[in-house]
Amino acid sequence: MKKAINIGILGFGTVASSFYHIFSEQKGELDSIFSVPINIKKIFTRGNSHPVPENIKKLSVQNASDILEDKEIDIVIELIGGIHPAKDFILQAISGGKSIITANKALLAEHGEEIFKKCIDKKTNIGFEAAVGGGIPILRAIKNGLAGDKVKSVYSIINGTSNFILSKMTKEGGKFEDVLKKAQEKGYAEADPSLDINGTDSAHKLAILGRLAFSTSLSMKDVIIEGIENITQLDISFAKELGYTIKLLGILKDEDSKIEIRVHPTLIPSSSLLSKIDGVFNAFLVNTKFAGPLSLTGYGAGGNPTASAVMGDLMEIASRLVNDDSHHDFIISKIKNKLNIKTKKDIISRYYLRFSAMDRPGVLSKISGILGENSISISSMLQKGRKVEGSVPIVITTHEANEEELFKSIALCDKLDVISAKTMVLRIEDKIE
Ligand code: HSE
Repeated sequence: MKKAINIGILGFGTVASSFYHIFSEQKGELDSIFSVPINIKKIFTRGNSHPVPENIKKLSVQNASDILEDKEIDIVIELIGGIHPAKDFILQAISGGKSIITANKALLAEHGEEIFKKCIDKKTNIGFEAAVGGGIPILRAIKNGLAGDKVKSVYSIINGTSNFILSKMTKEGGKFEDVLKKAQEKGYAEADPSLDINGTDSAHKLAILGRLAFSTSLSMKDVIIEGIENITQLDISFAKELGYTIKLLGILKDEDSKIEIRVHPTLIPSSSLLSKIDGVFNAFLVNTKFAGPLSLTGYGAGGNPTASAVMGDLMEIASRLVNDDSHHDFIISKIKNKLNIKTKKDIISRYYLRFSAMDRPGVLSKISGILGENSISISSMLQKGRKVEGSVPIVITTHEANEEELFKSIALCDKLDVISAKTMVLRIEDKIE
């Protein structure tokens, strides 16, 4: 039996600093639960934006190798983020037989399978609950609680920054740039906030979740990604009038082993549970074969919630190490084969189309003619205001249509001389449960 469990932390930003505080508060209890001391031995602090507090300076090291090559360190907690040098650090730690805890969604989305394979080869543990959904234990729910069930679909809100922006714009009518600034001040946004608003951060998390939910190999290229950067107050108010709220959704669906994996702003019924998830909150609606529909919601970003997820991984891995049970997660060893992933050719959805059209006779018949020729059936139409010269917004919602045909017909509409700007296309999801 081990005499102690030693931890090395790579990075000392918002999450690491919250983790340090939560760990220190609970250390006495942890030591007594595991009957061996659990210690933070070293923290690699070089290059941090956060100043290192006096009481932590004694643990601070300036070279990651001081942690990676330290044979007494059992668990490396990687909280640097980004691909380089985090990937090399993690691979080196696994080679040295160390267990890993990481919140690094970009790294796991891009290189997760290589990292998992190495963990399996070296029989080490990896915990990455903090990479998806902040403080919500969604990965643990999928990996453990639902291990014997079958996930049919997941509808999720998995980027706190985008949700914060969209809900403020919906409730208070604020401007995109001002609300983004607020999210940055609160520490929700990524170092590069364009990853939040262009859908990449959600796609990273969805790729990680999709692998576990469907035990399939997945790459970022499989994810259809659109962000919220072009959403205007006009779309928010048209959606409202039609009975919908706009949310950036991450969607996973398994239909007869054909997988849909997509992130995009979506019109969802204003009466639905997800439409009521506001601010930095994240949410997951998981539909399963046997347990039926489940929902999890909570803080998807921020120091304490994310550090709570790191603590959960620490408890699980420490328990395995103390009991000399170095078995890696059986779920990650199931991720071998690749299921069929749907492309735009196979996706069927309803759509919201906002045309910027000249207010002239015959415009509608030109648009509806193109839609009709491409088998796109119209469900409703709204036109607001009237301009003698210049353009007016015309909103059309469609019945279910094929995504490829839809985009083909919009490209044709946008070439019409009566259309003055690129048409806004958003998907509608009526049944999200
Ligand atoms: N930038 C992320 C978000 C942080 O806004 O959700 C949590 O991953």
